[in-house]
Amino acid sequence: MQLLAIAAPVKPAPGKVYLFAYATTKEKGHRGLHFAWSNDKTNWFGIGPEHSFLKSDYGAWGSEKRMLNPYLFKDASGLYHCLWSLNEKDAVFAHTTSKDLIIWRGQNYFATNDVGNAEQVSILQNQGNFVVSWLNAKDGKYYARSTKDFKTLSGVKQIENQKDNRQKIRLNSAELTGNMLEVSWETVDGLNKAMEAERFRTKQNASSPKSDSLQFVNLKPLEATVTIKAKESKKISPLLTGIFFEDINYAADGGLYAELIQNRDFEYSGHDKRYNDKNWNALTAWKGTFTLDSLQPVHQNNKHYAVVNNASLINEGYDGIAVVKGEVYNFSLFAKKLEGKGAILVELLDSKGATITSAKVNASAATWKKYELTLKPNAAVANGTLKLTVDGKAALDLISLFPENTFKGHKNGLRKDLAETVAGINPTFMRFPGGCVAHGDGLGNIYRWKNTIGPLESRVQQRNLWGYHQSMGLGFFEYFQFCEDIAAEPVPVLAAGVPCQNSADGGAGQQFGIPMEHMDEYVQDVLDLIEYANGSINTVWGKKRAEAGHPKPFNLKYIGIGNEDLITDVFEERYAMIVEAVRKKYPQIIIIGTVGPFNEGADYREGWAIADKLKLPMVDEHYYQSPGWFINNQDFYDSYDRSRSKVYLGEYASWGSTLYNALAEALYLTALERNADVVSMASYAPLLAKEGHTQWNPDMIYFNNTEVKPTVNYYVQQLFGQNAGDKYLQSDITLNSNDADVTKRFGISTITKDKDGSVVVKLVNVLPTTITTKLTLQDANVAMGSVECTILKGNPNTKQALPATKTLKQFGGSITLEAYSMTVLKFKPAAKK
Ligand code: AHR
Repeated sequence: MQLLAIAAPVKPAPGKVYLFAYATTKEKGHRGLHFAWSNDKTNWFGIGPEHSFLKSDYGAWGSEKRMLNPYLFKDASGLYHCLWSLNEKDAVFAHTTSKDLIIWRGQNYFATNDVGNAEQVSILQNQGNFVVSWLNAKDGKYYARSTKDFKTLSGVKQIENQKDNRQKIRLNSAELTGNMLEVSWETVDGLNKAMEAERFRTKQNASSPKSDSLQFVNLKPLEATVTIKAKESKKISPLLTGIFFEDINYAADGGLYAELIQNRDFEYSGHDKRYNDKNWNALTAWKGTFTLDSLQPVHQNNKHYAVVNNASLINEGYDGIAVVKGEVYNFSLFAKKLEGKGAILVELLDSKGATITSAKVNASAATWKKYELTLKPNAAVANGTLKLTVDGKAALDLISLFPENTFKGHKNGLRKDLAETVAGINPTFMRFPGGCVAHGDGLGNIYRWKNTIGPLESRVQQRNLWGYHQSMGLGFFEYFQFCEDIAAEPVPVLAAGVPCQNSADGGAGQQFGIPMEHMDEYVQDVLDLIEYANGSINTVWGKKRAEAGHPKPFNLKYIGIGNEDLITDVFEERYAMIVEAVRKKYPQIIIIGTVGPFNEGADYREGWAIADKLKLPMVDEHYYQSPGWFINNQDFYDSYDRSRSKVYLGEYASWGSTLYNALAEALYLTALERNADVVSMASYAPLLAKEGHTQWNPDMIYFNNTEVKPTVNYYVQQLFGQNAGDKYLQSDITLNSNDADVTKRFGISTITKDKDGSVVVKLVNVLPTTITTKLTLQDANVAMGSVECTILKGNPNTKQALPATKTLKQFGGSITLEAYSMTVLKFKPAAKK
């Protein structure tokens, strides 16, 4: 029988009430901590119902981050503690605290010290020396560890005569297991208000073209007056619009890195995909008759090679090999003749197997030797293959094919069309190599920059945590070189001595940092990177840069430490060591700290607290949000304390690639320009995605082997990147609507460029109606007669809009902004009299 929900009393009994803390097994325990309250322990009222007040941070997204059987208690100081089990296997339990049950501290995870998994975790003694107990379901026994501070815990003791001290209640028709506390009514009232506020925000942030069409159904065309005040200006960070590069979605191998041969050195491994794909191994992308060997490799870091005996092998590239008729392609390989002639016929084949170009290598040396030749296809092919036929018996490795026409013509270079599209944003900085790739999936997967430089055959390849392989052909030298080529400040981000908080490989929950005895070596790696980038050629690492072909320093100014890490003691200890060492040796380097993966929550708060403590010059904020969030949070930085660290908004995007998303981002970017005294840098993420190989959507630029497909979001980035300014000009804006939901959808940002005295006005309209805008540029010495005007507009659901530019002759200051549009007006300085 379905029980009827009991309506909450209008006026609850004053004073004390009972609070029941519980989790459900719905969605395998992913929903977190819920509360119900009661006056009499009989009639219970759910808060939400089932509103989540705390969620587990432990382990990988998807399968982990579970909260099982939470236990809530209050200590003598009035602080609430929550303990919970995490899963059925890891023999770890979680702990965190809160003053009000709404804002929670960072989570810590404690081991049961090999006495089995921790179930029914609870507290036996909750004052002074806390005693945490748990059940090991396998042997049916209870164990305990004690602690004064939940930082260090005693060894494990078995305890007799223990039983689970949880209770059961009925809430509506459900029987719930949890535990009960006496709290003040104000506490429950606070929980209710926090839940209501979150609901309101969720609803507000769900706005879309569809909800706009209902909400603004009666909205008439609008009129605005904007007075831009040239005398009221503030400096803008010169680095505001940059790019975030991560090898995600095949952004590097098979993407920006122009190599056309996939698995060129037979180093793919089942581990790349955590052994989930039986077709992924050292033979992936290859066909033909050959064996693999690893006895006498070209280099110890490049173990596998092919042994071919009077036979052929074929590489199918990344979704095929695309070549252009008449262009030159540089082929190379390492070969060692084992028997017979050792002649190798190299052929490019079209999709039907016909040869479109060929050449011969005379691999006569009996030791490993590099051979090179060029190929010029007589036909364009989108889906070709490379075939090698060996006359005799030979060992082959690092079989490579590059277009000669790479970006800026570099050897081991970048795909020209993609690199040019990226450069088209006019980015002022580039972050690399991630993202999560930087801190890796488990300790063994932390990105170590030293593994990525030097001769290709010596680079240490890695599993890519996004589920494929990193050849490291695009390594730190190539990243620095690309930055230089596009005049972007390099911003390398290195792990803070801890792997990704979502690590699934070799541990979880990030309690496993690099062991302290190896931290000095790790810190030295960080220092060596700065020497590699900036040191003279007489330094150890500066010399290596020179050997790679760049004797001049790269002039590195910024270094990121950590990537949206879980802020734990394990993290803080290592992070502080790195920061201290960099500061000591290179005080001029700007260290960018990390404040978690979201714009709120424990990692955000505690990351900021550490930044304050360490007085970091800058922190890296990340947030992926709905377009509604960006529309409703344009004031996010208006109230930031200007005396604290500056902000690098290192990863952000609204969830989607429509014009609506792009305009929500544009609106937000006008707010970033307004706040560019505190927000120093910002980069949309991720940057690149290969069609058919995306692990993350949306991305800024999609591509396949022959086409580059910038999104509408790209064009917004480009409009901001190409129209970046040195100063921001204040404006007075009036719109003939008093509805805050309307006024916040009209954004404006005006900048001036020191170089030429030009003024650029960006106007964003995220409304389904026009806004006729009368602009006055007060005290600005600009020509009004001829103004360049670029407009990005269209159906808010479209993914195809392109900016169009025209010249407005005799511009009188009045312009009608189309529904759902972004307009950029460029005013040249007035001619000198
Ligand atoms: O941009 C994709 C991923 O999002 C990054 O790797 C990570 O830092 C963030 O969670």
